[in-house]
Amino acid sequence: MQFNIITIFPDIFESYFSKAMIKRAQDKKIIKIKIADLRKYADKNDPHKSVDDTPYGGGAGMVLMVEPIYKVLKSIRRKKKSRVILFSARGKTLIQKDLQRLKKYDQLIMICGRYEGVDNRVAEHLIDEEISIGNYVLTGGEIPAMVLVDGITRLLPGVLGNIESAQDESFAKEGELEYPQYTKPENFKSWQVPPVLLSGHHQEIKLWRDKHKRKIQ
Ligand SMILES: C[S@@+](CC[C@H](N)C(=O)[O-])C[C@H]1O[C@@H](n2cnc3c(N)ncnc32)[C@H](O)[C@@H]1O
Repeated sequence: MQFNIITIFPDIFESYFSKAMIKRAQDKKIIKIKIADLRKYADKNDPHKSVDDTPYGGGAGMVLMVEPIYKVLKSIRRKKKSRVILFSARGKTLIQKDLQRLKKYDQLIMICGRYEGVDNRVAEHLIDEEISIGNYVLTGGEIPAMVLVDGITRLLPGVLGNIESAQDESFAKEGELEYPQYTKPENFKSWQVPPVLLSGHHQEIKLWRDKHKRKIQ
């Protein structure tokens, strides 16, 4: 699976994508991440490499322009099953089911907004869907892009060491959150691990875990 991320801050991703699961998935060639610097698609005659301008109709802040985004999208070679995503607080709120759906594509091209957002002609003409990662406003779409890459990568075959991890976790089943987990020591400051988990009785442990799974309201 290939992730193409379009951003004006390409350096932001380096640390997160070069560690742990995401690094291993790249080393194993399960995923490929390509970062496109939007400023490279600014007007060639503009010494400032501007990719934003003031909003029509007035108002605070700057808006990312449609033309550089159009150009960068044209420059990206499209795979057969590819989807273009714009991050926006106005988009559909991401849930685990969306990650399951999106993992089936060969390529996700993600546009990270900044400032006051993106010229709406991008949403109208250049993308397949608009995604929000929650009902709050972030400074840019880079964290949402990391959320998507992370959440999808761990669902791809061969990424997680233990396949059960992804089948027996929060949201794997509709409306259910995982049971509480504990590890050593059994007793810390008199805070005890529930005795049933130390009992070795698989059936009782399963019953306890089923009982303590939280239901989503
Ligand atoms: C400061 S925000 C723009 C907020 C916009 N003026 C509004 O009121 O909805 C800049 C960019 O951050 C990203 N962003 C902010 N909040 C987001 C969220 N909850 N989900 C996804 N992307 C978000 C989007 O790409 C957005 O274009």
